[in-house]
Amino acid sequence: MTIKPLIILPDPVLRQVSKPIERVDADLQRLTDDMLETMYDAPGIGLAAIQVGVPRRMLVIDLSKEGEEKQPLVFINPEIVSSSDDRSVYEEGCLSIPDYYAEVERPAQVTVKYLDREGKEQSVVADGLLATCLQHEIDHLNGVLFIDHISRLKREMVIKKFTKASKSKAL
Ligand code: NI
Repeated sequence: MTIKPLIILPDPVLRQVSKPIERVDADLQRLTDDMLETMYDAPGIGLAAIQVGVPRRMLVIDLSKEGEEKQPLVFINPEIVSSSDDRSVYEEGCLSIPDYYAEVERPAQVTVKYLDREGKEQSVVADGLLATCLQHEIDHLNGVLFIDHISRLKREMVIKKFTKASKSKAL
């Protein structure tokens, strides 16, 4: 397994819309393993393929706590088929926007259809942190970042800060 470099704001790659996966094969399974390894190393609880520069509709999640047994989840071609009217607020962060956190309001419950690591059709009714995490990661597949859900003023400040940081690193 390989730890892949993460794509960081303001890299325009993060704004690409990812394409559906046509075949679940050994190459794809290797990519899911690399993504999990990269996520655990960061560490984070969710990662979309586009965050390692692969514009394909796939994401990994693991909500297990430190010291607990790992619970890796793989979602291929995930699709939200229904969302609840009631909403919940979580403080979100993103491996592509390191050390920045903000509260985001989203539907509290979502039903997601997807293929698992073996290419088998599955569906999950998610609530709590899993619901938020799935929506955050599926947003990535559509080129959407969690900062798109906060105020424009705050978003512009974050983008400015990261743009400045990326330029100084290039020198
Ligand atoms: Ni993210």
